[in-house]
Amino acid sequence: MSEEIRIRRMRPEDIDGVWEVEKSCFPDPWSREAFEAELSGLNPTVYFVAEAPDGRVCGYMGVWHILDEGHVTNVAVHPDYRRMGIGRRLVESVLLDGRQKGIYNFTLEVRPSNEAARALYRELGFREAGLRKRYYSDGEDALIMWLTESLPVL
Ligand SMILES: CC(C)(COP(=O)(O)OP(=O)(O)OC[C@H]1O[C@@H](n2cnc3c(N)ncnc32)[C@H](O)[C@@H]1OP(=O)(O)O)[C@@H](O)C(=O)NCCC(=O)NCCS
Repeated sequence: MSEEIRIRRMRPEDIDGVWEVEKSCFPDPWSREAFEAELSGLNPTVYFVAEAPDGRVCGYMGVWHILDEGHVTNVAVHPDYRRMGIGRRLVESVLLDGRQKGIYNFTLEVRPSNEAARALYRELGFREAGLRKRYYSDGEDALIMWLTESLPVL
């Protein structure tokens, strides 16, 4: 089933669908304008979406490329489409795209209580490397995770 889902770069016309995913996943979702700003081209962002065969956006993931590091902004899969491998494919797409641009180190923040996301990141090689105290608006700390890869042998 997951094979029928296409992972591709996000386009401006995807914003409504991405925002629906966002609202279905987070109690404090980003605004629609925040996604417009991310796609404005003013910042070094890369966003991917997961698209179902009927055209519905069922997941998205974003990253900022800052120097030689990738800073993950978010990954989210609509509840109707979870545990089908879509989150894994989104993260893999971001990692592959980064590597093609010479980016081998990636970092992100995740709630300690978010077992699903932590398991997904761990499976793909991220490791916990610190804590940001009271990072989230409700006061929960954030775990900092890093994926650090060695440079390819030339
Ligand atoms: C985290 C999230 C993106 C995972 O998406 P997904 O498409 O369901 O994940 P996948 O199907 O690709 O799962 C890949 C692996 O991650 C782990 N995983 C995913 N969901 C899990 C869960 N609920 N519990 C435990 N492990 C889980 C498993 O190891 C899984 O492999 P498996 O299915 O072979 O066991 C999704 O749960 C989500 O959108 N959550 C809400 C938004 C969110 O919290 N985002 C992260 C913010 S930091």
